[in-house]
Amino acid sequence: MKWFENWFDSKYYHILYQNRDNQEANLFIKNILTVLEPQQDSQFLDLGCGSGRHSIQINKKGFHVDGVDLSKKSLEKAIDYQNEKLKFYQEDMRNINSINKYDIVLNLFTSFGYFDNDKDHELVFQKIFKALKNNGYFIIDFFNAKKILKTHPKHIFEKKILNNILFEIEKNHDSQFIYKKIKITDGGKTYVYHEKVRLITKQKFLNYFKNLKINLKSTYGDYHLNKYNSTSSDRLILIFQKNA
Ligand SMILES: C[S@@+](CC[C@H](N)C(=O)[O-])C[C@H]1O[C@@H](n2cnc3c(N)ncnc32)[C@H](O)[C@@H]1O
Repeated sequence: MKWFENWFDSKYYHILYQNRDNQEANLFIKNILTVLEPQQDSQFLDLGCGSGRHSIQINKKGFHVDGVDLSKKSLEKAIDYQNEKLKFYQEDMRNINSINKYDIVLNLFTSFGYFDNDKDHELVFQKIFKALKNNGYFIIDFFNAKKILKTHPKHIFEKKILNNILFEIEKNHDSQFIYKKIKITDGGKTYVYHEKVRLITKQKFLNYFKNLKINLKSTYGDYHLNKYNSTSSDRLILIFQKNA
């Protein structure tokens, strides 16, 4: 099993990242919708939707949303919110095959960079391009790899207790990947999970779309949509638009 099939499907992922909540999703979605002003009949695809916190917010504004994720357990939470205009599907993002279907495709909160073979990342971008209608938008929200490479120590250790569970986290990075080892102690039992995410810079994201008729429209550095600064921003948020 790959680490991302295992870790995101565990209950501990949701406990450790509990601060990545609906409030954060509301703020980001409100700002994105203000900038993009989608038509009321727009179709959204939330790729790597997790338990659906962004999909649910977009649907609350009246839009049609498909959420796609690999994690069965995360989708079980999302499915409670399904309605006529909000559907969730279990699928690997490398296997989406929609053509000219969506006005807006979203990939939010680092739901990317997980594959050992970098060709798979390019493949996902090609699939997203095909899934978009002409003039449609693609929004990717990733960590700022440049900041990590420039400012983060090579090795970080942190400990936290959440819901009476001890999380001991070792973070490392080299020039290609950021690695996390997450040791969990819960009720006398110990579990170990891993994360391994490719350090993808803005230029590399642009390269995934090379030769495709899609342009970068905006770059932001946080969920308030402040300007991106390669040294200080925590996030790298890119908005692309497919050519007509
Ligand atoms: C960091 S979480 C973010 C989830 C959600 N976007 C959010 O903001 O709460 C990354 C998500 O990507 C999903 N994922 C990982 N690999 C995937 C793949 N190959 N295809 C589809 N989803 C995948 C995980 O299951 C997980 O739910």
